[in-house]
Amino acid sequence: MLHRNGLVNVRGMTQIPATLIPGDGIGPEIVQSVLQILDAIGSPFLWETAPAGLGAIATHGDPLPASTLASIRRTKLALKGPLTTPVGGGFKSVNVELRREFELFANMRPATTLIPGGRYDNIDITLVRENLDGFYAAFEHYMPVGDDHKAVAFSAGFNTRAGCRRIIRHAFEYAVAHGRKKVTVVHKANILKALTGIFLDVGREIAPEYAGRVAMDDRIVDACAMQLVLNPWQFDVIVTTNLFGDILSDLIAGLIGGLGLAPGANIGTNAAIFEAVHGSAPDIAGRGVANPAALLLAAGLMLDHAGLPELGTRLRTALREAVVTDGVRTRDLGGTATTSEITAAIIRRIG
Ligand code: NAI
Repeated sequence: MLHRNGLVNVRGMTQIPATLIPGDGIGPEIVQSVLQILDAIGSPFLWETAPAGLGAIATHGDPLPASTLASIRRTKLALKGPLTTPVGGGFKSVNVELRREFELFANMRPATTLIPGGRYDNIDITLVRENLDGFYAAFEHYMPVGDDHKAVAFSAGFNTRAGCRRIIRHAFEYAVAHGRKKVTVVHKANILKALTGIFLDVGREIAPEYAGRVAMDDRIVDACAMQLVLNPWQFDVIVTTNLFGDILSDLIAGLIGGLGLAPGANIGTNAAIFEAVHGSAPDIAGRGVANPAALLLAAGLMLDHAGLPELGTRLRTALREAVVTDGVRTRDLGGTATTSEITAAIIRRIG
């Protein structure tokens, strides 16, 4: 029976329809692992598996088939494995297309220390990346000069005041909801005076509404990168434009031990898509050694988003116990465990 809120009642158990995109490279391996762990905690998700990426070109002649879009339109909720995007030519990024199609304006990338005693300890930073505009608008072309058809390369980006308001307000609202104390607006308004100056202007316009609850400061992106390495503990919530957010979120993933532990949530008004920050890792695909933790943490964010934070916390706790207490770690975390060994270790901790 389908309720108005999209929940399905199957034999007395409430289930939440959701789209599952296995993705490319290590995608199917880590998705399989996460599904097993979700089953172990009694996951509420009723999956519709949908193709996208290189695999979908082979089966549907399209990296983003209409049936996949229709599924997300129906469920408004998806867990997505990484998708390969050809560098330079080839098809456009399916990730960028999905963000645009469902107006997923906020990319939430929390970086929290899981394994204590690393180069940096007690990191707890959430990066909020504007997900639709900036240089990702992809107004790009070449201009020919003489015989060289690609003599000059152009790229134009844009940020709108409305878009800046939406993402910066989202960052402040996130801070309020999660008991965070400070939002740092990151920009390059000294050089890109219009493109990122508008972002800083809007930050200064919105911050007074949160005075006394959440403080605001700002950083130029290059200085921010250095300070994240020298003293990351000064940061709480960072909000920034699309390209800077892409780069800085990999930097903060490095602070907590690498991409294998960094989840992401793409949030829009009508849909939300959860994924790992990392890509399809073609260098290790098919070898059974990929770390499923980032996608598992993304599934945890998906449970939080679905209003089931107690299940999200169970996933996070089981992962911490398996990796920290039991010391079961994949190679990217300095261990020797395979994907199936870490999966089994997490499931044992769920009990
Ligand atoms: P990548 O994130 O796939 O890999 C970078 C390095 O990290 C590689 O050495 C890889 O083996 C390692 N790594 C990544 N995830 C891992 C995991 N779960 N466990 C263990 N090691 C892991 O970045 P790369 O190589 O630049 O991109 C590969 C492809 O992925 C490209 O086509 C790119 O466009 C795509 N990509 C897709 C994303 C998405 O779907 N959201 C995000 C980033 C890249």
